Amino acid sequence: MIGTEGSAGGDGRVAHDVDLWHHGDREVGDGLVDLAVNVRVPQPPEWLLAELRDSLSAVAAYPDVAGAVEAIAARHGRSREDVLPTAGGAEAFTLLARAWPGCRPVVVHPQFTEPEAALLAAGHDVTRVELTESGGFALDADLVPADADLVFVGNPTNPTSVLHPAASIRALARPGRLVVVDEAFLDAVPGEPESLAPERIPGVAVVRSLTKTWGIAGLRAGYVLAEPVVVERLRGLQPPWSVSTPAAVAMTACSRPGAVAEAEALAREAEADRDRLVSRLRNLGVEVAGTPRAPFVLVRVPGGEKIRLALREAGYAVRRADTFPGLGPDWLRIAVRSDMDDFLDALAVLL
Ligand SMILES: Cc1ncc(COP(=O)(O)O)c(C=O)c1O
Repeated sequence: MIGTEGSAGGDGRVAHDVDLWHHGDREVGDGLVDLAVNVRVPQPPEWLLAELRDSLSAVAAYPDVAGAVEAIAARHGRSREDVLPTAGGAEAFTLLARAWPGCRPVVVHPQFTEPEAALLAAGHDVTRVELTESGGFALDADLVPADADLVFVGNPTNPTSVLHPAASIRALARPGRLVVVDEAFLDAVPGEPESLAPERIPGVAVVRSLTKTWGIAGLRAGYVLAEPVVVERLRGLQPPWSVSTPAAVAMTACSRPGAVAEAEALAREAEADRDRLVSRLRNLGVEVAGTPRAPFVLVRVPGGEKIRLALREAGYAVRRADTFPGLGPDWLRIAVRSDMDDFLDALAVLL
């Protein structure tokens, strides 16, 4: 059983109601245009591919992440002791879920479902806090139960695309509680506003991912930034050599100032692409949730499930959003791409 608090009301208990293990990659293939997966580029840039190819000549040796730790620490202005490279953000959630058996975890929904899935797999009872559409899916710290000692929140949040103020997340921190901020998409927001990555804040852990911006989802590259005591605890649970040599090379390469500047330029392009998409969707009468800040948008369309299936017939895969707690079958998530005219024309016919 999973507890529910906040907008869900009732007696606060609901059955295990949605497929938390459903991800956008299950919706693509068959020649469909992929608007379901949030990996931004179809393949890594040539300079990164070249470094990855070179790294293969060193795979006889066991991996060493020291260079990656150094590079990530420098990129964020943190100490090396604050950094734990992981096999994608997903591994970080598993480590965090296993690190405090018997704690009282809370997941702020709608959000990426892997934190809750990892908590359930680690044997926790999970309490859900559901943010509301009427509130623009904005973070309301008052909804988080006072005795929650492990709190997961996304910023910007997948799938709502809402960017919470850093101050609202800081306000969740208190002695005896670890707040985990999933910043997997923050490198896709120009200037990385509202990030808590650059600062060691007691009781706050930041999860980052490199897989979306750089097109390396198959490589598995992410990291945690937290107080050394938290990093040590997670490292103690991490399987040996979890981060491969190519993944460590990617972490070093993507943390260099030139790469960070390139990510910033991609983020600016994505922002312009997203604003165009949002205005065209709104012109079609489609309801777009909140104020989108990430390179994807959440929309509500009456008969959304039928529209999603019809879009597949027309050659487009968009992500169903009914598997995110707090949403339902009318909700769909659309990844931002550079040219979406044909998709929008196809959608217009179906509305
Ligand atoms: C919000 C969010 N956080 C984290 C992740 C995990 O990313 P990865 O494990 O590829 O680094 C994803 C993947 O879809 C995501 O959407």
